[in-house]
Amino acid sequence: MDDKRLEYEASRSLRRIRPKITRRIEAVGGEDLERARLHEVVDARLELNWKRLFGLLYQLYGHHYDFFYYLEDIALTTIDCWLERPRPLKELDQKRENNPGWYLSEKMIGGSLYVDLFSDDLVKLRDRIPYLKDLGLTYLHLMPLFASRPGNSDGGYAISDYRSVDPKLGTIDDLRALAKDLREVGISLVLDFVFNHTADDHLWAIRAQEGEQEYRDYYRTFPDRTVPDQYERTLREIFPTVRRGNFTWDETLKRWVWTTFNSFQWDLNYDNPEVFRAMASEMLFLANTGVEILRLDAVAFIWKQMGTSCENLPEAHILIQAFNALCRIAAPGLVFKSEAIVHPDEVVKYIDSGECQLSYNPTFMALCWEAMATRETKLLKRAVQNRFQLPPGTTWMNYLRSHDDIGWSFDNGDSWAVGINPDDHRNFLNRYYTGQFPGSFSKGIPFQFNAQTGDMRICGTMASLSGLEDAIVQGDKKLLDMALRRIRMIYGVICAATGIPLIFLGEEWGILNDYSYESDPNKGDDSRWVHRVKMNWDLPAELKKKKSIPKQVFLTLQGLFAARKKLPAFCGNQMLLLQTANPHVIGFIRWHDASFAAVLANFSEEKQSVDLREIRKMGMGHFLKDILSKREVSTRDGFQMEPYDILWLEES
Ligand code: GLC
Ligand code: GLC
Repeated sequence: MDDKRLEYEASRSLRRIRPKITRRIEAVGGEDLERARLHEVVDARLELNWKRLFGLLYQLYGHHYDFFYYLEDIALTTIDCWLERPRPLKELDQKRENNPGWYLSEKMIGGSLYVDLFSDDLVKLRDRIPYLKDLGLTYLHLMPLFASRPGNSDGGYAISDYRSVDPKLGTIDDLRALAKDLREVGISLVLDFVFNHTADDHLWAIRAQEGEQEYRDYYRTFPDRTVPDQYERTLREIFPTVRRGNFTWDETLKRWVWTTFNSFQWDLNYDNPEVFRAMASEMLFLANTGVEILRLDAVAFIWKQMGTSCENLPEAHILIQAFNALCRIAAPGLVFKSEAIVHPDEVVKYIDSGECQLSYNPTFMALCWEAMATRETKLLKRAVQNRFQLPPGTTWMNYLRSHDDIGWSFDNGDSWAVGINPDDHRNFLNRYYTGQFPGSFSKGIPFQFNAQTGDMRICGTMASLSGLEDAIVQGDKKLLDMALRRIRMIYGVICAATGIPLIFLGEEWGILNDYSYESDPNKGDDSRWVHRVKMNWDLPAELKKKKSIPKQVFLTLQGLFAARKKLPAFCGNQMLLLQTANPHVIGFIRWHDASFAAVLANFSEEKQSVDLREIRKMGMGHFLKDILSKREVSTRDGFQMEPYDILWLEES
């Protein structure tokens, strides 16, 4: 369909649906003025978004004979969710519409946590808000807290009901109350939208098992191996130690089910427009609890097509854009964050103000660890130079650790370009971070070793991976000093690079690996649990002590967060690599409006000299001040950086 025809069809379809929208608004009751306002808002939003939404859905589902039926259903579901949206959230929508780039601010600091590990439940989490605020957070991602299948639930990623909270953690009203409390202190609530799969005990899956064709069509199931085997030829394996391949035999269905992740996580079938409608409804329900940012889980896998890797397909993007367009109508304050832990060329494709405004930055994460292991910054520099630029209105989430493993997802071409053999290097990094390389400071453990391909990924807490555990075990003061410096330096980089810094709670106390998961039958085969550690709230008592390791790490992070918030140059997404001419030191400039800052980081435990004339050539003047250490620095001379030094330089 050409553009003009599309426009025509979009207008025709809206004309058919409009009277129904009008009736719904009229049914709201209340004051005339209020209803007039609702009409005005909906008109404006449809004017802005309808054609786009129509075009996206047409691309996905236009070939269905009953496309217009689905379109209407999707539109009315969206309107209903909007009408149900609580007034304070509608007010927030308006605030965000007036300031659409709010998340680009230098004031943004993110944290993520498992409710049970952090505070047992949602009610107690509310009591911990002052702590989160004191740390400096403005963004809080709660790991999946919905009703999930009993036993192994992949840390909550196997959801049985998107509309109820796991009773162990609280109720949906507790969640709403928490969202409100957080909002009041300027912390945005972030939750997952796990839309690639449901648990095998979700009502839809159960009804499929009970023989209802309508629900069987929610999933991708096959009577025998013929089709799965054809697909397998081009698929990757995500959890090869859990199960080989991507399909699971279900005894009740008597069919093979597509299960990209664990066998109990059934992939949804987005070929079916009814699945899109149903999930849109779940998404907007979530939005209405007070979520401000949705983390779109496993985005790479949502669309499948025979003969492809079934990852990062063009339709996956269209699907997310369609969800995004629905939000512009029903919850415009809501922002998406993409979780695409894939090749860097693919990661960026999800990032756009009409798709995901935010994205994890997995390549930067991996390369920060890479540079810490090698003490060399060439690969990192290449990423800063070529892989940071994003479209306006979008930004990165920079992190070192999450609840997941670390995969070495850098580009092979980038690696060759700086003279590194990528496969050997991944091998080296795996050995380094599992402590098998002589002199390694790291205590990571392997995840999903694939004997066939030799692939594996790394688990461990920030502190254990970055040398703190090793230093403590060895009782070596020098190693301890180096580990603490390394930690300060790397967070200094994370907080200064384009994007929002994001920690996994516990990092701020330097929490070490916890090996007790090995004896838990529901966790033993998933080594990611080694870094999902219960927070021990006796520890903050340590913060009162004069000198303790948790206290040092806490003060370091808190101090960096506070300093970042005072640097307007860290707003927005402008960043330029500096030529430091020292292989161990990376430097870059950040700027926003009239504010400029230069950042230098030494990735080695040796002193390093850097030539600061490069900064002067960029017009930053003769005298600079490191706002972290308050040192005055002249750009006339060379400068000697301490081991693992980090400088945030402003013109003084
Ligand atoms: C995402 C989550 C991961 C989970 C997977 C399946 O990648 O981060 O923890 O195992 O999706 O939901
Ligand atoms: C793979 C997937 C990613 C997921 C991770 C879980 O890397 O690409 O989405 O989070 O596995 O281990």
